[in-house]
Amino acid sequence: MEDKREKLLRFRQEALAGGGEKRIASQHKKGKLTARERIQLLMDPDSFEEIGQLKVHRCHDFGMENERYYGDGVVTGYGTVNGRLIYVYAQDFTVFGGSLSETHAEKICRIMDLAMQNGAPVVGLNDSGGARIQEGVNSLGGYADLFYRNTLASGVIPQISAIMGPCAGGAVYSPAITDFILMTEGNSYMFVTGPNVVKTVTHEDVSFEELGGASTHSTKSGVAHFTGENGVMVIEQLKKLLSYIPQNCEEEAPMTAYQPADESRPKLGAIIPENPNHPYDIREVVDEVVDSNSFFEVHKQYAANIVVGFARLGGRSIGVVANQPAVLAGVLDIEASRKAARFVRFCDCFNIPLLVFEDVPGFLPGTDQEWNGIITNGAKLLYAFCEATVPRVTVITRKAYGGAYDVMNSKHIGADMNFAWPTAEIAVMGPKGAAEIIFKKEIEEADDKEAKLQEKIDEYTRKFADPYRAAFRGFVDEVILPENTREKLIRAFDMLRNKAVKLPRKKHGNIPL
Ligand code: HXC
Repeated sequence: MEDKREKLLRFRQEALAGGGEKRIASQHKKGKLTARERIQLLMDPDSFEEIGQLKVHRCHDFGMENERYYGDGVVTGYGTVNGRLIYVYAQDFTVFGGSLSETHAEKICRIMDLAMQNGAPVVGLNDSGGARIQEGVNSLGGYADLFYRNTLASGVIPQISAIMGPCAGGAVYSPAITDFILMTEGNSYMFVTGPNVVKTVTHEDVSFEELGGASTHSTKSGVAHFTGENGVMVIEQLKKLLSYIPQNCEEEAPMTAYQPADESRPKLGAIIPENPNHPYDIREVVDEVVDSNSFFEVHKQYAANIVVGFARLGGRSIGVVANQPAVLAGVLDIEASRKAARFVRFCDCFNIPLLVFEDVPGFLPGTDQEWNGIITNGAKLLYAFCEATVPRVTVITRKAYGGAYDVMNSKHIGADMNFAWPTAEIAVMGPKGAAEIIFKKEIEEADDKEAKLQEKIDEYTRKFADPYRAAFRGFVDEVILPENTREKLIRAFDMLRNKAVKLPRKKHGNIPL
């Protein structure tokens, strides 16, 4: 009779073998890692503890009772990443294409329940052919169990999804509810309906990659926040992302070592061009202000007219939102508003203070924007800032025009401190547009209309294109020299460290979705 110990070892070995050598080789041939290889890369050495390794499916249809694999296509458990507890599930494409059975879903739900009860992030490594076709509604129910948990966990613990293979149909909605999505380039895709259905319904010819690959979702749809050349790169980014965020909504993000030093940054004084209509790269400002090499951009290739990302300031994690004058003059449009709103809400959920750099000529005009809902979408960003109770500081580097002045974390909507550089221009609109409207009659009646317009532009510029009217009213707390920005911000965030604000009691608000 088989020794009891040997029996256990055999079971274990079979579980580790997944769908077998041939399928593992096929996975490698596609440039993909296996579920266990991914977990090994993610977790600290020897820290991973597997849960439910021997669980199997309960399906008896289509001859499934003769085909069972321990673990049922998903490896689940917990361990540490840089010493911090993380719960993880990794779908195993070598077992029924990583498809989700009732059992597979139960294993993921168990991990999520533990993560919620113990206040630690959940990381999902997705590589799946979707609902286990042989299981019908049991599988669909399993997905719904996941979606429900994803939603209840939202804002309580960070949830991160890496898409490292197929993720199609309704399956996309679990990652979609999580906080961040990372995708591998070339061998991952996400779509609600695949190329064949698209062809039938709309007669469009589109490849898997074009329809839902990493480049599509990181540039066109904004579904993916990060992409990596391969699984190794994606997992590296995932670990970096985790380093900026806390374990749950009750905790603070981890600090890194910080030695106070000379915080003056003279380079900041030379970034804004002489001509206020010339562009510059706001990332130069961000990089100079925050701790060296700490800026970690989110959604880098999507809605590039606004820059968002994590950074550290004096060792403390912060979220940065910055208009980007180098792209579309930094204007706010639908995509930029949605991108920034989502980021602001993540930071607010997880106690990450917000630093805003403002240089915005206003909202983008046009029928495309109006018909597609710049009103509702712009309101998302406004709402997100208004509702945020984390420490919030704004630096106006140049333009703060129109409604965008209010929206971009003004003091009126709850910012704690608002600094402006001497180059700031705070007004209802730019000098040319303003002069054309308020001096219309005078300009029309002038012999030399162009000279008159220029005269009025100059007059308006002298009066309004600076930060002092706002400072006289206290809407700007201090006009600061650019080189002192870092020091001012370190002090301001330090002063705001114990900020506690309670919002009115309600079930939940109704953000303009
Ligand atoms: C059961 C599945 C499966 C599935 C793949 N397999 N998807 N088994 N249920 N959904 C199995 C295959 O039979 C095969 O088994 C193995 O996994 C690998 O699949 P291949 O087709 O050989 O791999 P590949 O060529 O890489 O193609 C991958 C794929 C394709 C594009 C994902 O497998 C595919 O189209 N699968 C079906 C996708 C699908 O329609 N899913 C349902 C979506 S609807 P063997 O034994 O040969 O290795 C959905 C609804 C969710 O998910 C609703 C939530 C509300």
